[in-house]
Amino acid sequence: MRTLIKHVLASTEPRDAVTVAGWVRTRRDAKGFSFLELNDGSCFASLQAIADANTTGCADLAKFTTGSSAIVEGRLVPSPAAGQKWELQARSVRLIGAADPTYPLQKKGHSLEFLRAIAHLRPRSNLFGAVFRTRSKLAFAVHQFFQERDFIYVHTPIITASDCEGAGEMFRVTTLKGDLDAQPQADFFGKPTYLTVSGQLEGETFACALSNIYTFGPTFRAENSNTARHAAEFWMIEPEMAFCDLSGDMDLGEEFIKAMARYTLEHCAEDLAFFAKFIDQGVRERLRFVVERPFQRVPYTEAVEILRKSGKTFEFPVEYGVNLQSEHERFLTEEHFQSPVTVFNYPRAIKPFYMRLNDDGQTVTAMDVLVPGIGEVIGGAQREERLDVLREQLKAHQLRPEDYGWYLDLRRYGTVPHAGFGLGFERLLMFLTGVANIRDVIPFARTPGNAEF
Ligand code: 4AD
Ligand code: MG
Repeated sequence: MRTLIKHVLASTEPRDAVTVAGWVRTRRDAKGFSFLELNDGSCFASLQAIADANTTGCADLAKFTTGSSAIVEGRLVPSPAAGQKWELQARSVRLIGAADPTYPLQKKGHSLEFLRAIAHLRPRSNLFGAVFRTRSKLAFAVHQFFQERDFIYVHTPIITASDCEGAGEMFRVTTLKGDLDAQPQADFFGKPTYLTVSGQLEGETFACALSNIYTFGPTFRAENSNTARHAAEFWMIEPEMAFCDLSGDMDLGEEFIKAMARYTLEHCAEDLAFFAKFIDQGVRERLRFVVERPFQRVPYTEAVEILRKSGKTFEFPVEYGVNLQSEHERFLTEEHFQSPVTVFNYPRAIKPFYMRLNDDGQTVTAMDVLVPGIGEVIGGAQREERLDVLREQLKAHQLRPEDYGWYLDLRRYGTVPHAGFGLGFERLLMFLTGVANIRDVIPFARTPGNAEF
C-alpha cells in the first residue's frame, strides 16, 4: 500500500516498511549510494530515498532520471541531512515510467512564460504544485465559509439567453452553420444562446426562495483584454442574500476576503512559505494586515475627488462619471488608503440595469472591493426590487422588459430587498499568493488567441 509523501513526512516515529510513489526530481550518485528525490505533489517537500548495492532494483538506477516515475519501498529513518526530518532507506526501487533527457523540467530555473507553454507538465514544478494545492484548499474554504453561514449552493446554468452585465461580451453557443442571425429560431435552443457571464440573475431567483444562496462555477467573457488579470474563462463565486441591503453586502464581502486570508495563513503554510521566498516577499504580512484591519469604505464621488486631487497623471483622466480604470483602483488601494477599499454608490450610467437606484436619482447601490496589487476583486450591488423602477431601468439600458419576464416576476410576487456580489476566484488567488498573472493561477488559461490544451 502506497503512502502519500505528506503523510510519510508527518511521521512522528521511524517506520519499518513504507512504500511511496512519485516522480523523480533529481538523482545524485555517490560512491556506493544513490540519492533519489521523489515528489508526489501531495505536499511541497520531496522525500529523499537512499539506495545502495543491497537495494533490489539497484542495477536500474541509471534509468531513474529527472521526470521518471518510480515506486520505492524501505525503512523510514531520521535524516542526518539538514532541512529534512526523515529519509527513506530503500529496500527496493522500481522504475514505472522512464523520462528521456528531453524532459523539459530539468532542475534549473524556468521562466513563467516557458512554463505556460508546457502547462501540461508545469504542475510538477515547485511553483505550480504550490499554486494548485492552494487553489484546491481555497475552493474548499469557499464552500466551508458559506455552508457554515447557512448559504445554499446553487448550480446556475452555463448556457443562457440573457446578458447579465449588458456588456456584450458573450460567447455564442450554437449548432447553426453559416449566418447565425439569419434564422436564430432554427438554432438548438430556438433562440440565440451564450456562455454565461454571471449566474447572478438565476441566483436571485433562488435567493428569493431560499434566502441566502451562493454559486461557484465557471464564467466566460469574450473581453478582448490581454491583461494580467483578465481571462476569457474564470471561476466566479456569487452570494446573494434576501432581506439584505448594500451595507450588509459590503460586510459580507469584507468578511469573506478576511476569512480566505485567514484560511491561507492557517492551512497553506508550507506553500505560502514558498510564495514568500520566491514570488512575493510581503505576502504573509499582507494577509495578516487584511485579517486584522477593517477595510476602508468610500463613496464613488469621494473616490473621484481623491483621484483628482492626487497630483498624479493618469493615462485615463478622471472626472465624475467615468469608469474607474485599473490605474485608478490601484492608486486608491495601494497608495492612498494602503488597504483594501470598498467603493460604493456609482453613477447609474456606468453600471448594469439591475442595481438599485438611490434616492438622488443619479447613483446606484453598486460596490466594488479593490485590493492592493490587483484592483477589483469583487463587484456587487443591492438589486432593484421595485417593479416600476426596474422596468424604467431596463428601458434606460435599451433592454426590452418582455425579455426579462421571469426576472420581473420576482418583483411582482413577494419582492424583497436583496443584495449580492461576484468575486473572481483567480483574482482572489493572485491576491492571496502574490502570483502576478492570472494565467498562472488557473490550470489551463483561456485568453484571446490561446486555447491550447
Ligand atoms: O464586476 P463583475 O462583472 O460583476 C458581475 O458579474 C455581477 N453580476 C456579480 C454579482 O453581483 N453577482 O464581475 C465580478 C468579478 C470581478 O470583480 C472580478 O473579480 C471577476 O468577477 N472578473 C474577472 N476575473 C477574471 N477575468 C475576467 N475577465 C473577469 N471579469 C470579471
Ligand atoms: Mg465589475
